[in-house]
Amino acid sequence: MTRILTLRRPDDWHIHLRDGAALLSLVPAAARQFARAIVMPNLRPPVTTVEAALAYRREILAAVPPGSTFDPLMTLYLTDNTTPEEVARASRSPFVHAIKYYPAGATTNSESGVTAIERASPALEAMERHGLPLLMHGEVTDPGVDIFDRERVFLDTVLEPLRARFPGLRIVLEHITTAEAAAYVTEASGEIAATLTAQHLLLNRNAIFDGGIRPHAYCLPVLKRETHRVALVEAATSGNPRFFLGTDSAPHSRANKESGCGHAGVYSAHAAIELYAEAFEAAGALERLEGFASLHGPRFYGLAPNEARVTLERVDWTVPASYPMADATVVPLRAGQTLHWRLV
Ligand code: DOR
Ligand code: ZN
Repeated sequence: MTRILTLRRPDDWHIHLRDGAALLSLVPAAARQFARAIVMPNLRPPVTTVEAALAYRREILAAVPPGSTFDPLMTLYLTDNTTPEEVARASRSPFVHAIKYYPAGATTNSESGVTAIERASPALEAMERHGLPLLMHGEVTDPGVDIFDRERVFLDTVLEPLRARFPGLRIVLEHITTAEAAAYVTEASGEIAATLTAQHLLLNRNAIFDGGIRPHAYCLPVLKRETHRVALVEAATSGNPRFFLGTDSAPHSRANKESGCGHAGVYSAHAAIELYAEAFEAAGALERLEGFASLHGPRFYGLAPNEARVTLERVDWTVPASYPMADATVVPLRAGQTLHWRLV
């Protein structure tokens, strides 16, 4: 059995670092795991301009521990009113790497998101022209559509027409959760990729109801049934460069999660690469982990892979029951449970 695993230092192509005092705990945890991370813009207020993204980047950098070289890759939040001029500014900035699409009302802090994708046409046309990637939260928000079907319906009703209108638009379908999305990304023509979270590779929807309601396993898109998890593991471990690591690590305080109406989000940055290593080991595909975690993402974003290496050792350790976050605590994925890989 493999006991030591050495990889190029991985990057996280989808993370929520939040802001304010929370940065002081979340940024060091991410920086311990990753060289770079695509930082989500769903703050209050959302990060809709290059100027705001640069200010947010400075805030993040101030929370990077001394001696670490973490590089936050910034994104803008697409709205109905994003202008082609702002897109042009973003494409010229060395610090802004993509624009994020949230359907209005789909998830945490998505109220300012796009109400109908046609409304964002001027910005999308400019993104296609400038080659700036669109990162999509791929769910419809129609309350008439079952929550477990929202990603599948999105593929046919939003993504496919969008790609017909903007065939040159570079797209990342974020945190895919279904066999249909994995097949779509595998088979589509043009520049399309997808990120996969650790929780969607390790858990199915039973985890949300395991002996009672489990708010810390609730994220969006919601976990799906086992057949989908199996298809996602197949995609992640296939070696196809269209699939790469994006934790969607999305911390909320314990009080928020353990309430009458808790927010969606799983905190996984504390042990991200260890969690992915478990999923890849279970699939007998540890040798494919480096491509997924360290090579495919930079290739899509036109960046060089990291030169530094990290080492994982196969040793059992117990994940803490919680971590501090600002003046609260956050319950991580696998809290109080044993993990079999540890980042040295
Ligand atoms: O589970 C999620 N949490 N999904 C999202 O799309 C947003 C995220 C958050 O910001 O908490
Ligand atoms: Zn996210």
